[in-house]
Amino acid sequence: MKKNIDVIISKEQIEKRILELAEEISRFYKGRELIMVCILKGAVIFFGELAKNITAAVKMDFMRVSSYGSRGSTSGNIMIVKDLELDIADKDVLIVEDIVDTGLTLKTLIGVLLARRPASLKVCCLLDKPSRHKADILPDFIGFSIEDRFVVGYGLDFDEKYRNLPFIGAVKN
Ligand code: IMP
Ligand code: MG
Repeated sequence: MKKNIDVIISKEQIEKRILELAEEISRFYKGRELIMVCILKGAVIFFGELAKNITAAVKMDFMRVSSYGSRGSTSGNIMIVKDLELDIADKDVLIVEDIVDTGLTLKTLIGVLLARRPASLKVCCLLDKPSRHKADILPDFIGFSIEDRFVVGYGLDFDEKYRNLPFIGAVKN
């Protein structure tokens, strides 16, 4: 374990919660096929762990967006750096995100994907920071609600570091 990181949510807690989420999602999409959309890069570890525990039929696709507000603040203006390869029209689509902070990125992304006329569009996030929301969006499936603290690990980065930590931690100042 890195000594400058405080563990906030352990590997065991995350894995247990992901199993619960996968069960909930499997029940919701039972008998249907869903397209799981991984929002790169932050969701990548969560996405893999979640997908392998879902029992409904799954197709996977990947998208990378970057927000182009000033550094450290989210504007809701997004640029699609890598778009989906699958056609989502008339499909059941589940966006898989690492964290909802202000929610502005997600709100814009939802607008972009809804314009492609999916049969349904839901959002699953590993972490949610409800006290930071600026956009009125509520993810359909939430792993953990956390306080307003900058976290890393399990896909989340600080300056591209720490994504591979198997737990959620906070960088000590
Ligand atoms: P939003 O548009 O403000 O919701 O920004 C969401 C994006 O900001 C996430 O997908 C993350 O990439 C990043 N982000 C927000 N909070 C954190 C954090 O605590 N740690 C790491 N990345 C974060
Ligand atoms: Mg990020």
